[in-house]
Amino acid sequence: MADRDRQGLRAILAVAVIAVCAAGLISASHEISAERIERNIAERMMQSLHEVLDPSLYDNDLIRSQVQVIDPDLLGTTDSVQVFLATRGGAPSAAIFASVAPRGYNGAIDLLVGVDAEGVIQGVRVTDHRETPGLGDQIEISISDWITGFDGTSLSDLPLPQWAVTADGGQFDAFTGATVTPRAVVQAVRDTLVYFDENQAELFERAAAAEADAAGAEMATVSDPARAPLP
Ligand SMILES: Cc1cc2nc3c(=O)[nH]c(=O)nc-3n(C[C@H](O)[C@H](O)[C@H](O)COP(=O)(O)O)c2cc1C
Repeated sequence: MADRDRQGLRAILAVAVIAVCAAGLISASHEISAERIERNIAERMMQSLHEVLDPSLYDNDLIRSQVQVIDPDLLGTTDSVQVFLATRGGAPSAAIFASVAPRGYNGAIDLLVGVDAEGVIQGVRVTDHRETPGLGDQIEISISDWITGFDGTSLSDLPLPQWAVTADGGQFDAFTGATVTPRAVVQAVRDTLVYFDENQAELFERAAAAEADAAGAEMATVSDPARAPLP
């Protein structure tokens, strides 16, 4: 082979090696960022869950023990609603519902409702809404502490008719010039408690099965030599 041909071949090989290395680096960096994004989402989700449930109240994996339920009348949406079931020492301790208040002034209001096994509210937070700034947006914890008025309440402490804004004869304040939004949220929190009261045993059974399935799947992954992580 002539010198010029050899040089040409070397140049082509060098370009090919660089291209393969670059592709490998790009794919590795994609994998790393995908993992980081997934981790960030999980961390943010746990932060939100801990706003409505004190971490000392549970010792299980909330993400693994979640179930999906559908009850448009009580949970405010025809879509499935996520419920995170908490246990401590294996015993049911609390639940967190991603329920919806469908009758906000400007549409549905997304909520997280944390309730302990005795049916006592541990916390409520609004996770998404389109209520009017300066009026309905006082349901946001960053704007007013109104939403903390649910803490410690339960269906047994407060009879159903009291689960209403004061304008409707209930216990919960409305905002000046804005009754529609708080009315929607109070109804949704009340209905979530009713749902929990009626379905608690089944929810915890389903969550235990979901957690066992997830643990079983992990064991299978680790014991499958083809899928096991390298030492
Ligand atoms: C432009 C505009 C935006 C409004 N936004 C809200 C809102 O976000 N939440 C709310 O409760 N009321 C809002 N209101 C006021 C409601 O129309 C209603 O007057 C108020 O909630 C009192 O309700 P009530 O008559 O049932 O007591 C808004 C009114 C206007 C004109």
